[in-house]
Amino acid sequence: LLINLDTAIELLSSGEVVALPTETVYGLAGMISHESALMKIFKTKHRPFFDPLIVHVKNLEQAQSLAQWDPVSELLAQKFWPGPLTIVLRKKEGAVSDLITHGGDTVAIRCPNHPVFLQALRGLASPLAAPSANLFGQTSPTQAVHVEDEFNGQVATVDGGTCQMGIESTVVEYDQARRTLFVLRPGLLDANTLKHSLTSISPPVNVELRQQENAPGFLKNHYQPKIPLILVKGNSMPVNQQEILDQLTDFAHMPVREWILPDDPQMVARQLYADLRTFNQNRQAIYLVIPPHWPKEDLWSGIMDRLNKACHAWLDINDGEWTLHRK
Ligand code: TXA
Ligand code: MG
Repeated sequence: LLINLDTAIELLSSGEVVALPTETVYGLAGMISHESALMKIFKTKHRPFFDPLIVHVKNLEQAQSLAQWDPVSELLAQKFWPGPLTIVLRKKEGAVSDLITHGGDTVAIRCPNHPVFLQALRGLASPLAAPSANLFGQTSPTQAVHVEDEFNGQVATVDGGTCQMGIESTVVEYDQARRTLFVLRPGLLDANTLKHSLTSISPPVNVELRQQENAPGFLKNHYQPKIPLILVKGNSMPVNQQEILDQLTDFAHMPVREWILPDDPQMVARQLYADLRTFNQNRQAIYLVIPPHWPKEDLWSGIMDRLNKACHAWLDINDGEWTLHRK
């Protein structure tokens, strides 16, 4: 069900949930002042309550009313908002529902860089909680039609075109005691860029990847398509490629096709989830040969994170020898 922005603002004001575009992926939005809207978000997505939501704000000032800020987090917000950066902060007493944070004392906040989402925020009296607009554990939507497909047209959606970034925001949390910025979920805003943006701060701040193994967004099988996806990694191609194809077909129980992607992280991110949806629809098993430099370059880290979670198996090829690992 497609709706316009004015209708979306009306529905949100009355405590309904609506799918809205952001620059990363489409979000399933509800006002944080309406507990019933928050409940609807979890119910619509079949999302467990232990998975906390991101609060979307119109600007830094609005974010300051929700959480306690430190100078490092504030500098990051000034540099990268609106944009694909989510900042985890200590929440202010009584400012954020326990439904959003699963009763925890931190809240994840971001200001999205999309005219539709920002206009909705400016038209509303409170920020919007918005997880990606997909069923729990499934691939995030990057087009309005993906949201329609995911929920059989049952979720009111504003069509804002294809998301420019294509994978979810980078999630960070600054640890003041350790002077370290932890990257909890990698994204297109990569660790090097974050580090460079903090060079004016002294003493210097470390930037470290700390994936939360047990947190839901960080489950090893997140984003998984329903058809088999196999990653082919390693330092060489095998002598007998047919033998490998046979093994992959055997694993998938159906013919496998190669997934060809451009060698540009921005372009890959933009088409990644749409491609996975197409493969699902065509019931086609896919293998993707990972170029050796991808996992080593910072900009690829967000993409490799999603691919590692989405795949069902990977094939390691080293010096012509290969092994298939099932997840
Ligand atoms: O790009 C995005 O971030 C999109 C768009 C819609 O803004 N949203 C999104 O939301 O990806 P969601 O719910 O699919 O993922 C939110 C992630 C989860 O993995 C969750 O664990 C983490 O953020 N998160 C939320 N609150 C947190 C907190 N207090 N501490 C640590 N991680 C948190
Ligand atoms: Mg999600």
